[in-house]
Amino acid sequence: MSKAVAVFVLISCFCTAVFAQEYDQLVLEASNKLLASDYQASLELYRQAFQVEDGNIFDLYNAACAAALCGNSDAAFMYLEKAVNSNLIEKQWLEEDEDLVNLHSDSRWYTLLAAMDARVDSVLASLPEYHPEGSVVALPQPRLSSDVSVEEAMQNRRSVRCYEDSPLTIAEVSQLLWSAYGLSYPVENAPDFLRGGLRTAPSAGALYPLELYLVARNVTDLDPGIYWYKSETHELVRMTGEDCWDEFSNAGFNQLHFETAAAAIVYSAIFERCTEKYGDRGRERYVCMDLGHSAENVYLQAYALKIGTCAIGAFSDLALKQVIRMTRIEVPLYIMPLGKV
Ligand SMILES: Cc1cc2nc3c(=O)[nH]c(=O)nc-3n(C[C@H](O)[C@H](O)[C@H](O)COP(=O)(O)O)c2cc1C
Repeated sequence: MSKAVAVFVLISCFCTAVFAQEYDQLVLEASNKLLASDYQASLELYRQAFQVEDGNIFDLYNAACAAALCGNSDAAFMYLEKAVNSNLIEKQWLEEDEDLVNLHSDSRWYTLLAAMDARVDSVLASLPEYHPEGSVVALPQPRLSSDVSVEEAMQNRRSVRCYEDSPLTIAEVSQLLWSAYGLSYPVENAPDFLRGGLRTAPSAGALYPLELYLVARNVTDLDPGIYWYKSETHELVRMTGEDCWDEFSNAGFNQLHFETAAAAIVYSAIFERCTEKYGDRGRERYVCMDLGHSAENVYLQAYALKIGTCAIGAFSDLALKQVIRMTRIEVPLYIMPLGKV
């Protein structure tokens, strides 16, 4: 690198860092003013921040709230339109947000909601109806013994949000997926609904409504990408080999875990598997009970492997469905990032 280029890069890095600091400071002050109900001052600070940097989706959304609360509908719609351009903000939030009530009588409100509906429809239409027949990765057989007792794992398990910068092995990933939803009692000629047999986690009516995906970022002997876990055969089916961690992190609102996790398990459910038999009781109770059983297995198994994890329920449903390329019918439920501790 020539000296001039090196100096330019240094100055650029320095400026970027200074701008980022200035932006962060301004949006912090803006959100404090918003919380203190000083809406005009908050809006002005957001405006200044967006001159320093393009607004982050959630800062734009908060700026729209400040604008709506001080009666500046033009600014509110301008910021909202930018914020909802991503798939991270859901229509229901807008509809339920009291800060935006002032906008409800404006015809632009209905135009905005209709545009959001159209975006959801177009994302859903782009999703597959069935899981793809991608290339298959056979997982190592799980271990059935450990030096760590169940009692020790229950006592010490914690939600961990920061991980070591080192890879997971494919054997560890295999063990975690098996503990989550692997077969523990194969049944020959099992009825279709059983899909191979009984599993490590209990399930109402043995209907197994959950689907699991692995997002691999740094796993030895496994290319980065997204994989669908097939419990019946203990295999991963490759959905995409593209590096989509940033997109995945965005879908999870860039929570701290995504900075250092080496992989993540993503859970979704096909509610119909359960509601066909149990109706509303299946929808309102059983599917999420099944999820809890499975996720706790992951917590305990992760502890035994000295791996950290954390249940994440806060994410954008649409963005997560899109990045994972879930089938249309699936409802995303949990993300469990994984990394060495
Ligand atoms: C349904 C559910 C949703 C959760 N969502 C998040 C989340 O989005 N982000 C996060 O950091 N932790 C999340 N957690 C983890 C909880 O914050 C954590 O379990 C709680 O603070 C108790 O800590 P412990 O798990 O270490 O005992 C969630 C936990 C549950 C059960």
